[in-house]
Amino acid sequence: MLSIVYSSRASDSFDEAYLVDLLLRSRRNNKRLGLSGMLLHHGGHFLQAIEGPEDALRERMAIIASDPRHSSLRMLLEEEIPERTFPAWTMGHVEADDEPAAPGLRNVFEALAAGGDVSDSLPSLRELIRWYQVRAA
Ligand SMILES: Cc1cc2nc3c(=O)[nH]c(=O)nc-3n(C[C@H](O)[C@H](O)[C@H](O)COP(=O)(O)O)c2cc1C
Repeated sequence: MLSIVYSSRASDSFDEAYLVDLLLRSRRNNKRLGLSGMLLHHGGHFLQAIEGPEDALRERMAIIASDPRHSSLRMLLEEEIPERTFPAWTMGHVEADDEPAAPGLRNVFEALAAGGDVSDSLPSLRELIRWYQVRAA
């Protein structure tokens, strides 16, 4: 089981209608492919955790990476995991604007907004993912 976390910048034309369509398709595809995860959307940036069998995940990641609805994709974490972090989420969606309390969120998205080195924020990133993992269970 492979887990990937990446960030990207939403395209200027990205809006609510795009998001609804994206989540609908993502959930349908992910269910079929055995992928799960969560998608955070905040301040014009995405943070996605996506996990599943390695071949299916890498194949879908290549499709996601070439999607014009976002750009500046940066791989933040890639690791083998013994079991899923988000078994119940074909693609959980969080409008992070609504979640000021999530620990780590501010650090991670401030680093993204500054275009800086997110690797300094990896502990915050892991904390953020753990926070949603508990909520998704
Ligand atoms: C930020 C972002 C996250 C995405 N996440 C997923 C995903 O988890 N699963 C998925 O199948 N497609 C995801 N997509 C959409 C893919 O890029 C692509 O449009 C879709 O997989 C095509 O599926 P379709 O052939 O069924 O239309 C995402 C796109 C963006 C911009």
